[in-house]
Amino acid sequence: MSAVVELNQVTKEYPGGVVALQGVDLRIGSGELLAIVGPSGSGKSTLLHIVGTLDRPSAGSVTLAGHDVAALSDRRLSALRARHIGFVFQSFHLVAGVSARDNVAEGLLYSGLPRAQRRRRAALALERVGLADRMHHRPHELSGGQRQRVAIARAVVGEPDLLLADEPTGALDSASSEAVMELLHDLNADGATIAVITHDGEIADSLPRQVRIRDGRVVADLRTGAAVPADRGGKR
Ligand SMILES: Nc1ncnc2c1ncn2[C@@H]1O[C@H](COP(=O)(O)OP(=O)(O)OP(=O)(O)O)[C@@H](O)[C@H]1O
Ligand SMILES: [Mg+2]
Repeated sequence: MSAVVELNQVTKEYPGGVVALQGVDLRIGSGELLAIVGPSGSGKSTLLHIVGTLDRPSAGSVTLAGHDVAALSDRRLSALRARHIGFVFQSFHLVAGVSARDNVAEGLLYSGLPRAQRRRRAALALERVGLADRMHHRPHELSGGQRQRVAIARAVVGEPDLLLADEPTGALDSASSEAVMELLHDLNADGATIAVITHDGEIADSLPRQVRIRDGRVVADLRTGAAVPADRGGKR
């Protein structure tokens, strides 16, 4: 299994002296679906930002799609990130007053595609997440679960190899939360590598791998053998 991203002895110290990560080794292989769990303040979001190259480590190395991140300029790193990674943030980060479709199309802003094509793909991505009939709704006209699905559509519209989600179900009721997890499973079955931060033990237990963080260290990395349903197994 080739690595999508690999962290070697990564440490992250924030200005002010908080050491949020210490000596983290983590390899995420192509096609994996994993949970990142741990107490509040343990370094999960920091880890996701570094895996996603939104932030650089204070020490240690990050290799993304075979590129040593430290060797890349910010500009080249942004390009690499835009090509390979999609993010879903807990608070959605949708643009207010702009339709679901244009929010999703924004995920292709740096793709070089003309606007008409960006909008066409956005429509397809919204269909994919079950929101074909909410295309023209603006965020305040959508439910929380629907907003989260728009955010996921935006994250996957560029067909990233790696999808990183920070508490994608944190703000959702259990039905919406199930729908979002089902969507992530489907995207994974179609080939996306996915890492999900969650504080929901049931969700974490339902994923094939669990990375546990405490005080900035990986304290467990379990292959839970959680059922990847048989009909999804060989589909890649
Ligand atoms: N920009 C920052 N500057 C300084 N310290 C920070 C910054 N961001 C996070 N921290 C600190 O780093 C530690 C790890 O934060 P992080 O956001 O990664 O935790 P987390 O595991 O995601 O927590 P939660 O479950 O509450 O979201 C915390 O102690 C936090 O206070
Ligand atoms: Mg966090």
